Amino acid sequence: MKAIVYERYGPPDVLEFKEVEKPTPKDNEVLIKIHATTVTTGDWRARSLDVPVGFGLMSRLFFGVSRPRQPILGTELAGEVESVGKDVSKFKVGDQVFAFPGAGMGCHAEYKCMPEDGMVALKPRNLTYDEAAAISFGGTTALNFFRRGRLQSGERVLVNGASGGVGTAAVQLARHFGADVTGVCSTARVELVRSLGANHVIDYTKEDFTRNGETYDVIVDIAGTAPFSRSKGSLKEEGRLLLVLGGLPDMLQIPWISMTSSKRVIAGPAAASAEDLRFLAMLAEAGEFKPVIDRRYPFEQIAEAHRYVDTGHKKGNVVITLEHNNKT
Ligand SMILES: NC(=O)c1ccc[n+]([C@@H]2O[C@H](COP(=O)([O-])OP(=O)(O)OC[C@H]3O[C@@H](n4cnc5c(N)ncnc54)[C@H](OP(=O)(O)O)[C@@H]3O)[C@@H](O)[C@H]2O)c1
Repeated sequence: MKAIVYERYGPPDVLEFKEVEKPTPKDNEVLIKIHATTVTTGDWRARSLDVPVGFGLMSRLFFGVSRPRQPILGTELAGEVESVGKDVSKFKVGDQVFAFPGAGMGCHAEYKCMPEDGMVALKPRNLTYDEAAAISFGGTTALNFFRRGRLQSGERVLVNGASGGVGTAAVQLARHFGADVTGVCSTARVELVRSLGANHVIDYTKEDFTRNGETYDVIVDIAGTAPFSRSKGSLKEEGRLLLVLGGLPDMLQIPWISMTSSKRVIAGPAAASAEDLRFLAMLAEAGEFKPVIDRRYPFEQIAEAHRYVDTGHKKGNVVITLEHNNKT
């Protein structure tokens, strides 16, 4: 099968289009013929090793010290079950699914095997493969942080970085949970963020939310520009700062902040479960969550997609499409 392979860390030029062995499903696995995948900021980080302050060594230990341990990037996919192992009972050949191997990667290929009890779920019927491929990375991240931050209906939430992959999911999920949502983004993204259900939108090029006197129960910092030192004055008493993007110094302050303040900071990698995928699929079918697609690139032009993602200004998700027969 064809796959996009990288054998050293670096810019998008390290990506190579290669022929590799097609995987065979184990007894408990399904083989998915991939119709769509995405290039996320997770792919950018794993490809470039450009990681938040203090995480350089940890990232090398995780991804591979001198070269990538997993040479095929791609955290999420949507496609069709082509074959199943002999013990598989939850999926059958022909099922339309989406999957999220996450940091395990491997979706920038024509095929991928997933354990039937792993991060795979039936594709929402009302989403295309392109849309379903983009459910998981942003959706599970936002969902996990809101759960850890115990977001309650009626609370005021500010999403800093509302127009990106995680932000567009966070705005929609916060609305689903009954929050009053303020999105922060640049001028060109204001209408998009409003259309996702944000009750208020702040254009960060014109207004600094930390200086406008408003306070919030929950602030989600996805852009990395609102650490506790900057956003504490915008948090209500017992407010929670959800640091989706934070460096090691931010994390080391967390115990001290808990001891000296009623406010809390929640950080670290987001966890996800197959149940989360089914929950997001259910919301999508109910029309309450729809992945935003900024651009689509054919598989062969994936390096171009990486170059765009590397800018840090994508609008929602960047989807990679693979040509197979019987695509819907
Ligand atoms: N903790 C975790 O488990 C976890 C999980 C997923 C992602 N992440 C991290 O979260 C970060 C964001 O991921 P993503 O996929 O959402 O990235 P993305 O799609 O590139 O979006 C980033 C957004 O940040 C916005 N932005 C840039 N400067 C800003 C500013 N000064 N104020 C407000 N917004 C600003 C951009 O909006 P404009 O274009 O409008 O400027 C862009 O939409 C990445 O660094 C990623 O590594 C962490």
